[in-house]
Amino acid sequence: QTLLPGEVKYIRLRTQQEVWDAIYLLKVRGAPAIGIAAAYGIYLAMKPAAAVAYARFAERFEEALNYLASARPTAVNLVWALERMKRVVTGNVGESASSLLTLLKEESLRIHREDEHACRAIGQYALPLLKPGMGILTHCNAGRLATSKYGTATSAVYLAQERGYGLKVYCDETRPLLQGARLTAFELSRAGVDTTLICDNMASHLMSEGLIDVVFTGCDRIAANGDAANKIGTLSVAVNAAYHGIPFYICAPISSIDPACKTGADIPIEERPAQEVTDMWFQKSMAPPGIRVRNPAFDVTGANLITGIITERGIAKPPYERSLPEMLSPI
Ligand code: MRU
Repeated sequence: QTLLPGEVKYIRLRTQQEVWDAIYLLKVRGAPAIGIAAAYGIYLAMKPAAAVAYARFAERFEEALNYLASARPTAVNLVWALERMKRVVTGNVGESASSLLTLLKEESLRIHREDEHACRAIGQYALPLLKPGMGILTHCNAGRLATSKYGTATSAVYLAQERGYGLKVYCDETRPLLQGARLTAFELSRAGVDTTLICDNMASHLMSEGLIDVVFTGCDRIAANGDAANKIGTLSVAVNAAYHGIPFYICAPISSIDPACKTGADIPIEERPAQEVTDMWFQKSMAPPGIRVRNPAFDVTGANLITGIITERGIAKPPYERSLPEMLSPI
């Protein structure tokens, strides 16, 4: 995803190190896709341990888990997937390494498949919120490229497209890494969706022109109170939407809910290199040499700005302290 839209190239990752690098360098990105990659990554990490005793296997698993979890801090789906893989090991004490490997492989494939179903279900719950001809604003890329299929924020768009709704989707370019321009505009326009790219600072103007009926964004981690961390700039979109009286929805699988974080203040925010702001994408630096730069990769949208959180189990509405635990409780 660092080469798109200029080059479409599939890469094959064979080792834990390659998976870690791919996540760290954003070759694979987007919360659900990071989780899926990490699940495959820990299976790859354990493959060389096919002949060791259980205790040693469990020890090496823990090391690999900690390593892969360190690739990126904000999307909870990364740790969620690794913890799910861990339960395979802790739930089969004494099993041979080769059977554990088979079980781990099956679990990683299951995580991948389940994400596809979750994304489709998110779209099915979101679809009734849309009417033909509506304008939708989205931020960053919470599309097919960030998940196994359909995306989260884009899922209803694809379902509406199949039904001939003629939606108009506006993509924030999403400074500084341009996921909206490079990825969302790329995947939606290729799918034949009526797609318009805007700079991040144009959203409020378009809202004032009446072009935006609803905002759908993805999310990297949802706290117990409904505060939601997503790509930097999402908070501005939500504030603008509230100002203009436009509904703002977070679309995310339940694996993005982290009850261990009481509020958004508990969510770790990744800080990325200054060079992404000053130099990347420019032919020469666009800032004075040595200027102090802040580059937080995510921000937290307060629960009070979120109209609803659309998951594969339905739409959670405020108060989120009550609706999110219902989403999480076994069905
Ligand atoms: O830094 P990124 O590109 O990984 O950030 C991605 C986002 O913020 C997405 O909106 C989020 O992960 C949801 S993807 C379905």
